[in-house]
Amino acid sequence: MKNSIKRLTYPKVVFCAVLLGFNAAAEANYLSPTALAATTDGKMLFVVCAMANKVKVLDAADRKVLTTIATPHPPLGLALSPDGTRLFVTCAAPESKVCIVDIARRKIVETISVGHTAQAPVVSPDGKTLFVCNQFNNDVSVIDLAAKREVCRIAVQREPVAADITKDGKYLLVANHLHSGRADVEDVAAVVSVIDVIAGKVIKELRLPSGSEILKNIRVSPDGKYAAVTHIFASFGRAATQVRQGWMNANAMTILDLLEMKVRYTLLLDDPTRGAANPWGLAWSADGKTLAVTHAGTHEVSLINFPALLAGMPLDSGKVYSTKKNKPVLSFVSHYEGLDEGLPFLTGARQRVKLPPGDFGPRAVVVVGDTVYTANYFSDTLSAIDLHSPEHLVQSISLGQKVLADGHLADCPKGMVRKGEFYFNDATICQGGWQSCSSCHPGDARVDGLNWDLINDGIGNPKNTRSLLLAHKTPPAMFLGVRTNAEAAVRAGINFILFTKQPEAVASSIDEYLKSLKPVPSPHLEHGKFSQAAKRGEKLFSKAGCVDCHVPGLYTDLRSHDVGTRAAYDGATDKFYTPTLIEVWRTAPYLHNGSAATIRDVLTTSNNGNQHGDTSELSKQEIDDLCEYLLSL
Ligand code: HEC
Ligand code: HEC
Repeated sequence: MKNSIKRLTYPKVVFCAVLLGFNAAAEANYLSPTALAATTDGKMLFVVCAMANKVKVLDAADRKVLTTIATPHPPLGLALSPDGTRLFVTCAAPESKVCIVDIARRKIVETISVGHTAQAPVVSPDGKTLFVCNQFNNDVSVIDLAAKREVCRIAVQREPVAADITKDGKYLLVANHLHSGRADVEDVAAVVSVIDVIAGKVIKELRLPSGSEILKNIRVSPDGKYAAVTHIFASFGRAATQVRQGWMNANAMTILDLLEMKVRYTLLLDDPTRGAANPWGLAWSADGKTLAVTHAGTHEVSLINFPALLAGMPLDSGKVYSTKKNKPVLSFVSHYEGLDEGLPFLTGARQRVKLPPGDFGPRAVVVVGDTVYTANYFSDTLSAIDLHSPEHLVQSISLGQKVLADGHLADCPKGMVRKGEFYFNDATICQGGWQSCSSCHPGDARVDGLNWDLINDGIGNPKNTRSLLLAHKTPPAMFLGVRTNAEAAVRAGINFILFTKQPEAVASSIDEYLKSLKPVPSPHLEHGKFSQAAKRGEKLFSKAGCVDCHVPGLYTDLRSHDVGTRAAYDGATDKFYTPTLIEVWRTAPYLHNGSAATIRDVLTTSNNGNQHGDTSELSKQEIDDLCEYLLSL
């Protein structure tokens, strides 16, 4: 763990808008709401629309859009100042902006430069400081709101995507999306970084149970005693022979005890026979009695009775699960088998509410009085759910054009891409609603950093999840090339990972979506250009013979090789297809079995006898330069 505060010296340079992954359909007028906030009096709602570069302001009483504010880049997050006068909107780009909106005047009055793909803004309780997660810099910007500038950065683990602050303003809790480290070990889990705000550094890392990945949101309870974190609970150690009962991916929430600053309990949000895939947003009611969780994959919201959940939690959670092993110890799976370790109490402590027909992909959520609002990414709607009416009356609020049942607009030229994005994130095409493609390929079809023992190449030989960027351009698919091409892999994924049959149109739209993905510019670039170190590394890339196989362009020769990386689980003659190196900065850990935590490991400890390029003669400086080059691609 390293904590560092970097003083920033680089000048402000305005970058052209890069559509960070939001390439699917920007020109097609999709809104794609991703974050929500409400004024404390509950009268106004604010929704950021990531694909439209807009913030919509709604009147909560008549549920109509009052005004729309344009943003310079895709807005991913928003927060209100404690006095309710200003709105902070994070607009994501390689050099993101925080836009400060004067709510009375409904316009942007100030912009502040922050890091790569900024999101999850959090204001300190005294209203003086703003914190912003820079997902691809792996750090948090600290902004002095009086001076209106970033004063420092605090390094966290990997891809911070959500944060919240304790009520006393002392600790900022940051959810890291993915784990850092190798994948071929028993304990693989992402952490919550605890930042001491005064000291300006990480003082603790709260490690979730092994298998906890794809953290999405974190929220402190109104009484300040707890925080809840949504995430996936992956049983990556098992052969992927079925999907039922969370055999592969279960969907979880971890409760943190903030008084003792420790992990208190992890529980599954699924039901024994029905998954509740892709838990995303979290929000508490003001009285702390209801905790609302969105399920982006099954288009539902869980309304959890938090006091009942607390009452059901064992006092010593350490006995309930082991954090060392990836066992389904905290699941109903054991409950099902007659053991008493399950979580039967959640059944009585939670209601699963379906969104109204036509509302899909709930991500953000807020609770205003007795109403839960969800922002639905794929339908461009909000759903309003009444907490206290018996049937939880649900109403759909349109933000723009009418979107079809599979998430795309009628007559839209980009419809196939959007449809594919929808199915890729849709767990209702999975048997039992347990997982979607994005449960392992999150963040626009990239990686979860885990090894999975898929059955496509036999059992007992786990492989690290591959990014699907460029998959359709680099046949064959899979490390062992067991699928002729990505098209075949997509169809096999539906049949043998989601365990369903789907019309061909589902698979072909997923193909179109995956083909539309564009690389995100590396955070290692300096204002979009190679650094001096990367330029030196580029020369070494040729000198060390890397170009023979990683041919510049796609950075692969589309062939398989033995580069000395076979390990205990691999077949004696296994050879692996050369992977592309584009966006390799984002896809750790490396090699077919995730055994190299860093690029440096690939080039040093994992390169036996120069079988994988001539690296043994390189000086430390040269290795640094070569790494910098690779990380810039
Ligand atoms: C349980 C985790 C998991 C889920 C869910 C999952 N994948 Fe994968 N996917 C993987 C892993 C692991 C690999 C690499 C396997 C290998 O190389 O043998 C992979 C590889 C692929 C590849 C090949 C990429 C390449 O360039 O070689 C494609 C295409 C793909 N997945 C598509 C999908 C689609 C589409 C879905 C949903 C229908 C999906 N995946 C669901 C884990 C998953
Ligand atoms: C003989 C062909 C060949 C040469 C030469 C070669 N590579 Fe590779 N490279 C591969 C193959 C094959 C893999 C996949 C190995 C595995 O997964 O176990 C790979 C994997 C990698 C990875 C990991 C990518 C990932 O996503 O997991 C990196 C980084 C890499 N190579 C960089 C280099 C560099 C730098 C050089 C030159 C020093 C180099 N390679 C030389 C074939 C080659």
